[in-house]
Amino acid sequence: MMNKKEIFHGSDIERIAEIYNIDINSIIKFGANVNPLGLSGNFLKKMPDLLDRITAYPDRDYVSLRKHLSEYVNTPYENIIVGNGTSELINLSIRAVNPGNATIIAPAYSEYANSLEKIGSKCKYASLKKENDFILKEDQIDDLFDGDTKMLITCNPNNPTSTLIDRDMMIKILDKAVQKNAFVLVDETYIEFTPDVKIYSSIPLCEKYKNLIVLRGISKFFASPGLRFGYAICSDENLRAAILSSQDPWSVNSLAECGVPLLLEDKEYIEKSSNYIHKEREFVYNELSQLKTLTVYKPYANFILCHIHDSNYSSADLFDICIKKGYMIRDCQTFQTLDDTYFRFCFMEHEHNEGLIKTIKEYLK
Ligand SMILES: Cc1ncc(COP(=O)(O)O)c(C=O)c1O
Repeated sequence: MMNKKEIFHGSDIERIAEIYNIDINSIIKFGANVNPLGLSGNFLKKMPDLLDRITAYPDRDYVSLRKHLSEYVNTPYENIIVGNGTSELINLSIRAVNPGNATIIAPAYSEYANSLEKIGSKCKYASLKKENDFILKEDQIDDLFDGDTKMLITCNPNNPTSTLIDRDMMIKILDKAVQKNAFVLVDETYIEFTPDVKIYSSIPLCEKYKNLIVLRGISKFFASPGLRFGYAICSDENLRAAILSSQDPWSVNSLAECGVPLLLEDKEYIEKSSNYIHKEREFVYNELSQLKTLTVYKPYANFILCHIHDSNYSSADLFDICIKKGYMIRDCQTFQTLDDTYFRFCFMEHEHNEGLIKTIKEYLK
């Protein structure tokens, strides 16, 4: 038993296993936000025959890979940049824009602020409000660009709130950004989990808005964080050149180069994953909505944010109780604007979701 409760991130699995003295393989990763269906069947079947691609360098310009992505997201391949995970592209995009001042819609994934800090940019947070169920309201748009903000950064749907900015609101944000001469970075890491990617993705807006960069990845929906692959869509040639200018050559390895198309072409896996998450999302939301001690915010991604409103309970204690049963949830108190009354977890296999819900209900009676 620990004296002082440590706060862990979704990827802190080795440390958690050591501290709690549990077998790492027995931990159910409710904090990692990765699709529980595992790797695509198409990828597993065809990848072994492609292993010898390691003996050659990838195409320096990744033309074939970018053409596959272009078909997948329905946008010209010239507008696509590939990278070593969304993480590399967050960093490169921020470096390319080099904003003196930037605004992050919060609570938010911590790497945006870390990347801004690396280049000495000042960052301010625009809060999604609890009283608005963590949904951005139109009257907040002016605040996003007050002062000298040259870059707005947001995640859609957002981690950790699982809430969404719809297309109409995104257009209003982009129009305001154009007026203010500012760039907008939209991280769509979780977009494929939403009820309708076509309606919610901002990629179709890239052609019109040169000040927009949309980021996507494969780590979460395609359950491939170890392959390290992400991509950016931007129609401004100069901005793309600036992003590429600080990228190392061959940043995407040959296995990702030939493996990613196998993921994207597996329509059966995509449909199955999407249907599965929709079903579990509804199940979990309905189950937890019944609890009087808890507020759950309507989720659009593959995870849900919950708020405990009874001071007898805390997210740190709940984490402790859950991890002893092998369920690793995310205590959200390290996110800006949240505290030790918030926790987040992603949807795993149905029986494990049931087990976690039972544990939460027993604690928050
Ligand atoms: C919002 C968000 N963006 C980006 C990433 C990192 O993605 P990648 O593995 O593609 O670098 C994460 C990982 O948790 C995330 O939550």
